[in-house]
Amino acid sequence: LRDGPDAFSPPPLSQMAKSYAPFERGPAGLLAELTHRCPLQCPYCSNPLDLERANTELTSGEWGDVFRQAASIGALQLHLSGGEPTIRRDLEEILAHAVDAGLYTNLVTSAVLLTRERLAHLAEIGLDHVQVSVQDVVPESSDHISGYEGGVAKKRDVARWARELGLGLTINAPIHRQNVDHLPQIIDFAVEVGAQRLEVAHIQYYAWAEVNRAALIPTREKFLATVGIVEEAKKRLQGVLNFDFVIHDHYASRPKACTGGWGRSIMVVTPSGKALPCHAAQTLPGLSFDNVRDRPLGEIWRDGAAFQAFRGEEWMQEPCRSCDKRGVDYGGCRCQALAVTGDAAATDPACHRSAHHEEFAALGQNESLLPAPPFVYRRLGGAERKEKTLDQQP
Ligand code: SF4
Ligand code: FES
Repeated sequence: LRDGPDAFSPPPLSQMAKSYAPFERGPAGLLAELTHRCPLQCPYCSNPLDLERANTELTSGEWGDVFRQAASIGALQLHLSGGEPTIRRDLEEILAHAVDAGLYTNLVTSAVLLTRERLAHLAEIGLDHVQVSVQDVVPESSDHISGYEGGVAKKRDVARWARELGLGLTINAPIHRQNVDHLPQIIDFAVEVGAQRLEVAHIQYYAWAEVNRAALIPTREKFLATVGIVEEAKKRLQGVLNFDFVIHDHYASRPKACTGGWGRSIMVVTPSGKALPCHAAQTLPGLSFDNVRDRPLGEIWRDGAAFQAFRGEEWMQEPCRSCDKRGVDYGGCRCQALAVTGDAAATDPACHRSAHHEEFAALGQNESLLPAPPFVYRRLGGAERKEKTLDQQP
C-alpha cells in the first residue's frame, strides 16, 4: 500500500514535458471526458444538458494522441472522467496510452461497473489513483439521488480493492440539501475504506444542477454546520484523512478561483474532442471551441479563442479590475457570473463586492426553505422532462 495522505502529492514532472511556455506553462491537468454515457443519473451532473453520443467519441488512438500532446506541453495529471469512463470497453488501451505518455493517471468513477479483476488489470497497466464519487452512504438516499440501485455496497467494495491494489484513493462527495445531514456518515465511510482524501464539495449550480437548483440548495444553517463538521473531523483525523472542502457559493463572501483561473491550469476535452477551459464553458454564448481532431493541443491552449477569452485581466470589469484579490481568485467563476447576471465578464455574484451578491445570497436562502421539487434526472436528450420521485425509481 502507498501509505498515508501524501500519496496524492503532485507527481514528478512528465518525462515528455519540453520547455514550452504558451501561457505561463501548459495545463497542469487534463480532464478527459471519455464518454458522457453513465449508468447513474445524478441531478447535479456537470456534463452539459445536451450530452454527447457514443458514436461521436474519440477513439483510444485519438486519445493517445491527445495525451502525448498534453504531456509534451507540460501536463502532469490526467483525470479519466466522464460520464462513467469504465463504460468504455477500450479503457485499458486508453490508460496504456496515458501511462506511455508519462502522465499521472486518476480514474474518476462512480465505481458501480468495476469488477476487482478489471481494477487489478488497470492497476497492472499503471493506473495511479482512483476517485470514487459517492451520492450518499445511506443506501436508500444514494439510490434516490443517483437513480441507481445498490451503489453504496459496490462503491465500498471498489474503494477497498483500490487500496488493496496499492492505488491512491479519493472519495468525492458532492453535498446538497438531500444528503447534507449524512456528512458525518460520509466521513466515517471514507475512513472505513482507507481513503487518503475526502472531497466535501458543495455543488456548483450550472448544467444539471442549475435545472435542479431548488431541490439541491441547503439552508445557510445546514451549510454552516458542514463547515463545523469538517473542521472537527480535520483535527480528529489528522494524518489519516485529508480534506478538500468546497464552499457553497450562495453563502460565501468571496468567490473561488474557479478551475484555478480561466485557461491557467486545466483543459477539459469532451468525448467528441472539444477542448474547453472548464466543463461548463459551453454554457457561455459566443465562444467557439477548437476540436483536438482539427488542431494541435498546444495551439489550442496557447491561441484558442475560448482559452483567450478570460485570460489575464483585460476582460475584467469593476470591481474586479481594481481589486487587490484579482490575482487570487481571477474574478471567480465565469459560468456562474453568466448564469446569475447574464454577463460572463461580470464579477462572480459569490463575491460580496458584486452588485448581485445580496440577491444571489437571498435566492439561496429562499429556495432552500421551500419544499424540494422532484429531481429532473440526467439523461440523453436533455432536461425535457422525466421527473421521478422517490416512489418512481427505475
Ligand atoms: Fe475577486 Fe473581483 Fe471580488 Fe475582487 S471584486 S474579490 S477580484 S471577485
Ligand atoms: Fe466555468 Fe467556473 S465553471 S468558469
